[in-house]
Amino acid sequence: MIKYKSVTAFAPASVANVGCGFDIMGFAIQGIGDKVTVNLINESNNSTVILKGKYGHLVPAERHKNTAGVAVDAFLQATGNSHIKLEIILEKNMPLGSGMGSSASSSAAAVFAANHLLGNPLTTSELIPFAMEGERIACGTAHADNVAPALLGGFVLIRSYSPLDIIQVESPGDLYSAVVHPHIEINTSDARRVLKNEVSVENAIIQSANTAGFMVALIKSDYDLMKRSMSDLLAEPKRIQLIPGFEEIKNSAMRSGAIGCGISGSGPSVFALCQGQENASTVAAVIQAGFTKIGLFNEAYVSQLNSKGTSIVDLVEF
Ligand code: HSE
Repeated sequence: MIKYKSVTAFAPASVANVGCGFDIMGFAIQGIGDKVTVNLINESNNSTVILKGKYGHLVPAERHKNTAGVAVDAFLQATGNSHIKLEIILEKNMPLGSGMGSSASSSAAAVFAANHLLGNPLTTSELIPFAMEGERIACGTAHADNVAPALLGGFVLIRSYSPLDIIQVESPGDLYSAVVHPHIEINTSDARRVLKNEVSVENAIIQSANTAGFMVALIKSDYDLMKRSMSDLLAEPKRIQLIPGFEEIKNSAMRSGAIGCGISGSGPSVFALCQGQENASTVAAVIQAGFTKIGLFNEAYVSQLNSKGTSIVDLVEF
């Protein structure tokens, strides 16, 4: 049932993979994200997405190519509401190819706003598959490790993709993340192409042991165990080549007290998990200095995990 004339939602940036959880772990951060407004309209001219924001000019306006447009249309179709005409306005605040879940932020905000406009026929968890369709358009793979934390907030584990089984995991209150975005762009599809299709049994054992260790560490607030578990044999060894200075930067973050440090999503952003805001700020400054030293402009985002996820920021009633 249509409840509002217009709804605006904000969805936060997110860190996917978190070291040892390629495609299956992610968390939402604070301080940056995209906004999407959906407006109920009468006319059928809604084949384009209206683009605003600092990076709006960089994303496709065609609705079937735009992550926000694809997510909303998949949602409308699945809920039997294709006849409802929604104008989509995307305020693209997040840089593209940053490794901070930029496309996920757009599709999460879009589908959340559309669901709210229709009186929330679906739960937030039920919106995840539609936001994943936005990811499929953006990078060719419908991975959920950005859209799930962006929608739900906090730390999220994707236990299974088929059927989708998504679990929110409690995280310690003094766990902070430092994310530094160097100004280069890496397409997720390119970063997925450098990965190998085969994994040795030996590496599969190490990787799954680390993922399990990380989960236990989160639940028990055991930062020593978290530190021992934050190592990735799947993506990081192959993707290092795409991020200038990564190894040195990671080493200096670890020397400065980070619990763990790795590539945020498919990069180029680098993230670190830290105990407390003070240490996270120190580590962010060290990572920034590392990128600055090799001539890369960069921005840092230091925050607790974002427990809120996607939220409504504006409404217009009838
Ligand atoms: N898990 C995805 C990847 C995240 O690493 O390719 C992309 O942000």
